[in-house]
Amino acid sequence: MSREYAASYAASQSDPDGFWLNAARALDWERAPTQGWSRQEGWFADGILNTCHNAIDRHVEAGRGEQTAVIYESPVTGQTRHFSYAELRDEVARVAGMLAGLGVAKGDRVVIYMPMIPETLFAMLACARIGAVHSVVFGGFAAPELAKRIDDAKPKLLLTASCGIEGQKVIPYKPLVDHALELTTHSIDHVVLLQRPQLAAEMTAGRDLDWQTELAKAQPTPCVPVASTDPLYILYTSGTTGTPKGVVRDNGGHATALAWSMKHIYGMAPGETFWAASDVGWVVGHSYIVYGPLIAGCTTVLFEGKPVGTPDAGTFWRTIDKHDVDVFFTAPTAIRAIRKEDPQGAFVTDVGTGRLRAMFLAGERADPDTIHWAEDQLGLPIIDHWWQTELGWPAIATCLGMGDTRRKAGSAGFPVPGFHFEILDEGGHPVSHGSSGAVTIRLPMAPGCYATLWNNPEGYAKAFQTFPGYYETGDAGHFDAEGFLNIMGRTDDIINVAGHRLSTGQMEQIVASHPAVAECAVIGADDALKGMIPMAFAVLKAGQEAHANMQGEIIALVRDDLGPVAALKDVHIVEALPKTRSGKILRATLRKIANGETVVTPPTIENADVLDRIMRQLASSG
Ligand code: COA
Ligand code: AMP
Repeated sequence: MSREYAASYAASQSDPDGFWLNAARALDWERAPTQGWSRQEGWFADGILNTCHNAIDRHVEAGRGEQTAVIYESPVTGQTRHFSYAELRDEVARVAGMLAGLGVAKGDRVVIYMPMIPETLFAMLACARIGAVHSVVFGGFAAPELAKRIDDAKPKLLLTASCGIEGQKVIPYKPLVDHALELTTHSIDHVVLLQRPQLAAEMTAGRDLDWQTELAKAQPTPCVPVASTDPLYILYTSGTTGTPKGVVRDNGGHATALAWSMKHIYGMAPGETFWAASDVGWVVGHSYIVYGPLIAGCTTVLFEGKPVGTPDAGTFWRTIDKHDVDVFFTAPTAIRAIRKEDPQGAFVTDVGTGRLRAMFLAGERADPDTIHWAEDQLGLPIIDHWWQTELGWPAIATCLGMGDTRRKAGSAGFPVPGFHFEILDEGGHPVSHGSSGAVTIRLPMAPGCYATLWNNPEGYAKAFQTFPGYYETGDAGHFDAEGFLNIMGRTDDIINVAGHRLSTGQMEQIVASHPAVAECAVIGADDALKGMIPMAFAVLKAGQEAHANMQGEIIALVRDDLGPVAALKDVHIVEALPKTRSGKILRATLRKIANGETVVTPPTIENADVLDRIMRQLASSG
């Protein structure tokens, strides 16, 4: 363990307030905070600042205006564009003016349903500039999911584009937006739409406004001061029900945490280039495509493409080389996709990795095989690290920036300063060393973690109820003898499909809404590429016959309700579901069957014969 890491971790535990108040000095404050954490108010309650000023303007004022802030690399449109910090400030100030001109003020919400293009970044930062609260919705969600988020966030405006581009496919956004707005009870003032050259969208007169026309009328608008604890954004994520959880991020704690993490975890210095190959619709995109690198004065890469197919499995390495990326971040599934196409690593041998120092992985467990393959190919440190939408930044990692180099494939690393982990049993007692249990974090958690759930304080409180004084992560894991923390999976019904967080409970609700389905179970089965994929087991109502297209209908239902990202492709119509005598569906047993593991008949089972039949059915379906 590096001395710097050890000292930093100890200081963060013995005096959290002092540690983070000191870290907060890396930012520009309108009024510097004197207060640390309080349970009621969160971090830095008396601080005043502006996140956009910290991400852009202060760098321009400090003489870095000519430095590249954003590189837009879009293999799907064949474009590369550079924006300096001065250009970024001008773009964002004008979009802020456009929003203000349309009546958006401090505290108002703006929903952003846009692809991976520069205007999406401008829009997020423009909201931050005027104290409005953005809520970015991932493009892979269907209209009903967008509608749920609109009804919860109640935005004044919805910002969108005519299309997204997914590999070779052009995905029209406007029909989806129109459908979502038919489903909402909340009505929004306007949709502002950016017409992309790949597809023209039809506009609804009166409601829809053209982005470029509105922007042409806008005046550049300065940053407004906001309270440190004011919300910067709401990001909806899957909970255990069909209703998404609106994670609320503050301004001051978030900016402090991201500035600290860029330097101390990722080892980034101002002027260096950071690339997180994620999507702005996810927390990784918020923290490490947009806010983190810019707050740290780095260059960020906005990549509109996929690890494979745009045009090939060499696209990541070419981008890293072309733009002198220093540190790279992606999901294990992306590396598995590249490996599948290029097992011998011919592209990386051909292209190289430029000045890359390390690759970080997160979003799902990084399996040792993938880590070893990547290490062999790249000859660089491959660092797994763990976090969640709720936390906003990594809580388990190898802190490269503090000279720590300890790594073990299969483990997510060590607790990051500011996070005290405990592994607890069901009764809330610490488990013996090396045993598995619920992964919890003792309060206070470091700055940047969620302050509440939008419109749902009870839901927020629930995460602290099972183990009073601790945040329940929903993951299971254990510390090993050397202090590495291993995360083994969720304790609830959340699954990670290709790095996308989804709820099987929500999918069950949708499958059960098919008129022929009496009951169902959806589980996450292991998948060599995506980590996990959903698999549905459905029992039909009495008198219903399974027809040839029934599976197709159920798959379409999930796709139309939740979105293509759900990636449900496997539906089994079964006679009955395995259940305990008290009627609980044995989902863990179904999961084992789906994974081809040996199944020991649970003693509590009511209908053991069902297990046999399902096993035979899966075996015969291949
Ligand atoms: N907009 C619209 N549709 C989207 C979308 C978006 N932003 N993202 C995904 N989809 C669609 C895909 O086109 C696909 O549709 P299809 O069923 O019609 O083919 C479906 O949702 C499933 O997508 P995905 O799970 O991404 O599978 P894929 O086969 O297209 O790609 C990977 C597989 C591994 C290449 C891809 O999932 C990937 O790059 N994952 C990394 C994710 C990541 O970075 N997560 C962030 C955590 S760090
Ligand atoms: P999300 O909120 O989408 O970031 O998903 C968070 C969940 O993803 C965590 O609770 C974990 O279950 C899983 N996860 C994220 N990163 C890792 C990792 N490095 N190792 C294991 N699981 C991870």
